[in-house]
Amino acid sequence: MTPAQKETLRETWGKVVPIADTAAAMFYDRLFEIDPTLRRLFGGTDMAGQREKLVEALSLVLENLDDLEALVPTLEDLGCRHVAYGVKTGHYETVGEALLWTLEQGLGETWSPTAADAWALAYGFVAGAMQRGAATANAIAA
Ligand code: HEM
Repeated sequence: MTPAQKETLRETWGKVVPIADTAAAMFYDRLFEIDPTLRRLFGGTDMAGQREKLVEALSLVLENLDDLEALVPTLEDLGCRHVAYGVKTGHYETVGEALLWTLEQGLGETWSPTAADAWALAYGFVAGAMQRGAATANAIAA
């Protein structure tokens, strides 16, 4: 990730933070619109708490852009727990799509192809580490 991409991520995230809860609500609405079958994974979930957890997880990533490698064990553990939540590999793509859509809606004119590339890269890093953690969990269970 280039310094310019990190700057883009920090700048765009800074604009999302004040509207984070609304953005998180838009994200889940969009997610369930793209794939209604995902609703059942959140059947017993307190969605207000879940919105906070999502924002906290993204904040952690944004705070650690200069040393993302340091987050890998945490992300692998998170991915491992997601296996138990019923999350499959293909779901990460849907979540990424809903996330980028939400950022685009929330940021309006601040959104740009440069911002889209930077977010796709950051999300890809997080999802990749989580999927590796999930693969390890599946290998142990097999
Ligand atoms: C970058 C990707 C993701 C991040 C950062 C993320 C973050 C989180 C966090 C922080 C939690 C709280 C529980 C814990 O720490 O174990 C959680 C729970 C959960 N996530 Fe994710 N998640 C991601 C991807 C996904 C995907 C792809 C799905 C599938 C649609 C998903 C579905 C769930 C479900 C079902 C729960 C459990 C809710 C409950 O406690 O009832 N997540 N996620």
